[in-house]
Amino acid sequence: MKRALITGITGQDGSYLAELLLEEGYEVYGIWRRKSVIDYGNVDHIKERLTFIYADMTDVVSLIAAVKASRPDEVYNLAAQSFVATSWEQPITTADIDALGVTNLLEAIRIAAPEARFYQASTSEMFGLVRETPQTEGTPFYPRSPYGVAKLYGHWITKNYRESYGMYACSGILFNHESERRGKEFVTRKITSGAARVKAGLQERVELGNLEAKRDWGYARDYVKAMRLMLRQEKADDYVIATGETRSVREFAETAFKCAGMEIEWRGSGINETGVDAETGETRVRVNPALFRPAEVDLLLGNPAKAESKLGWMRETPFEEMVRRMVANDEELARRELAAKGR
Ligand code: NAP
Ligand code: GDD
Repeated sequence: MKRALITGITGQDGSYLAELLLEEGYEVYGIWRRKSVIDYGNVDHIKERLTFIYADMTDVVSLIAAVKASRPDEVYNLAAQSFVATSWEQPITTADIDALGVTNLLEAIRIAAPEARFYQASTSEMFGLVRETPQTEGTPFYPRSPYGVAKLYGHWITKNYRESYGMYACSGILFNHESERRGKEFVTRKITSGAARVKAGLQERVELGNLEAKRDWGYARDYVKAMRLMLRQEKADDYVIATGETRSVREFAETAFKCAGMEIEWRGSGINETGVDAETGETRVRVNPALFRPAEVDLLLGNPAKAESKLGWMRETPFEEMVRRMVANDEELARRELAAKGR
């Protein structure tokens, strides 16, 4: 039986990856942080089938102990302070976890399980102010946030340990991927949850920042399959994982509201823009300038050709289907919220 160690197991990707590896007969170990209230996050439904180890990306001693205890064949480093906006408020924490944390984990592997294969969760945020479109593995990086800068360090240190020590260490440069398990502060889930709650009368509107930012949005369950494939090749390498399609935040909002049975008709322009429901004339979406970022990533569009040809990975879930699933899930949560309030 193969053993995998996943950092960030309680997060969106960690939970889908854990499910996938369990299905394949792996013994799955997950690193989680000690909290005052025990919280299994997105893996609550499979917690009995997992082995949890308390550790923190900022504490190399705890990581060495985790690697020793799990004796992994594969290590997936998914832990991160992953919310870009927070990285301006907590730049040091973000760097400690997302940059130095990667070195901590690579050192732990080098000391305790040097043959283990390593996956690093790199990101399209490293392309930032994009130098070319679409972005590929060869596109130069230009990060635009403390998060992007920290992740770029993690990316390069992974490559460096591969070249310095011959470790099987890969980076997946994943473009945005979403799901029913996405954190509610990210724009997609904020919109799908907002649309469902507006429809249910639980909130009046959704406040958003930059409507014109464009992202290449895929479905998280499809993307974790690429992580596993990357660790099964003859040689370690880095791969872009994306859909090859890009859409604006505005288009995402229109699609999500349509899935919830509401039409947005935009009035005004720029930061005064409001989304008015065509039927009722009520404002469903409003732009709040406070939600704009100090530096923005305007456009992300990935080219997954290398992953498709070398890994045989293909995106499975179309954009509209992903949004439909997210809205349906949030509508169910809104119904439960109403029921709990006796409405
Ligand atoms: P997520 O839902 O925010 O999950 C992050 C995980 O990291 C959580 O389990 C969190 O644990 C854990 N974590 C945070 N700080 C930690 C620390 N100091 N020590 C140990 N664990 C810590 O993120 P995700 O969307 O699943 O993304 C997974 C990875 O892919 C991240 O590295 C992210 O930066 C990267 N990525 C994501 C995307 C995307 O679109 N989703 C795209 C490219 C790359 P708690 O539950 O304790 O908070
Ligand atoms: N979060 C948020 N909230 N974003 C908003 C809002 C809002 O109210 N209004 C507009 N946006 C815009 C942001 O300015 C950004 O341009 C875009 O929506 C997407 O924001 P997020 O959903 O927060 O994701 P992200 O692209 O910054 O980062 C995600 O993707 C990266 C990969 O490119 C995260 O998952 C990162 O961890 C990941 O590396």
